[in-house]
Amino acid sequence: MAKVLDGSTDGVKRAVEILKEGGLVAFPTETVYGLGCDALDENAVRRVFEVKKRPLSKPLIVGVSEIDEVYKIAEVTGEAERLMKEFFPGPLTIVLRKKLVIPSIVTAGMNKVAVRMPDHEIPLKLAKKLGRPIVVPSANKTGKPSPTTYKHVLEDLGNEIDAVIVGECSFGIESTIVDLTVRPARVLRTGAVKVNELRKSIDVVVEPQKDEIYTISSPVYVFVGERAEERVREFAERMAERGMKVAVIARRKIFENTIILGESIEKYSSKLFSAVREAELLRPDLIVIEGIEEEGIMDRLRRLAGEKIFRA
Ligand code: TXA
Ligand code: MG
Repeated sequence: MAKVLDGSTDGVKRAVEILKEGGLVAFPTETVYGLGCDALDENAVRRVFEVKKRPLSKPLIVGVSEIDEVYKIAEVTGEAERLMKEFFPGPLTIVLRKKLVIPSIVTAGMNKVAVRMPDHEIPLKLAKKLGRPIVVPSANKTGKPSPTTYKHVLEDLGNEIDAVIVGECSFGIESTIVDLTVRPARVLRTGAVKVNELRKSIDVVVEPQKDEIYTISSPVYVFVGERAEERVREFAERMAERGMKVAVIARRKIFENTIILGESIEKYSSKLFSAVREAELLRPDLIVIEGIEEEGIMDRLRRLAGEKIFRA
């Protein structure tokens, strides 16, 4: 079972020892929980793929503690410098041509590496004290939504990793990923940094988002639009009348089994994934979510509901 460490100096010190021995440590970041190891240790990286059940064809993001470190692992372009100045540390991942020091297993054999500098003291301290970059994939099993609490990490990976550090994630959805190896730059994944924010610094186009659907233990329905709340309530009540057990995830309490996200977009996004995990524990016949139309959130809702997303 993974050791549960706190974010104190001692906890971080212990975690760094584990990383030095080639171990795997999960930690909070400002987006979601990450699963780290020494990014230059091929064997440790291989274990990250194994425990996440991640195909070797899907590369890992590399996390650094300082902007200077990026120059050691990648070819830094002018656009990259502009974005790093504006958004590092923060929830933006940039894809650059990689240098040889990064083992090819990290990048799934590609000559590009995705780099980010988390805006959270724990991963920053880990990479700094290790003296090397660390990988920072989300700390879930492939196919599940990203964990945002240490308990979710233990549910998914508790038996397979060496430690987890307790702490808070603020955004609750993953970083925005932009590929700077092509012109114009391409947003590969929308996320915590808005595309319009990026456009203040560089020209970007948004790739059609890959719809990887999460595996949720009950079917998920999402309603968005002005009448979303009303439609969620109506639909939940109708299904309940038919004898189904319904779990609702909404901004306020609108049904008996409601997991409340809160009114602001920040609260909504920070709690969405944990609300889904909480709803799954109720073993409902269906989960009904009041969606909000914000780019990063809409993308995650699509991954939760697949086709079952309705505009009201
Ligand atoms: O917010 C985040 O980015 C979180 C925190 C924990 O750092 N991490 C995260 O990692 O979401 P992960 O592994 O769940 O998602 C990383 C995404 C994958 O879709 C992967 O294909 C893409 O980044 N990616 C990684 N390296 C890449 C590369 N060299 N080129 C293109 N895409 C890459
Ligand atoms: Mg992930």
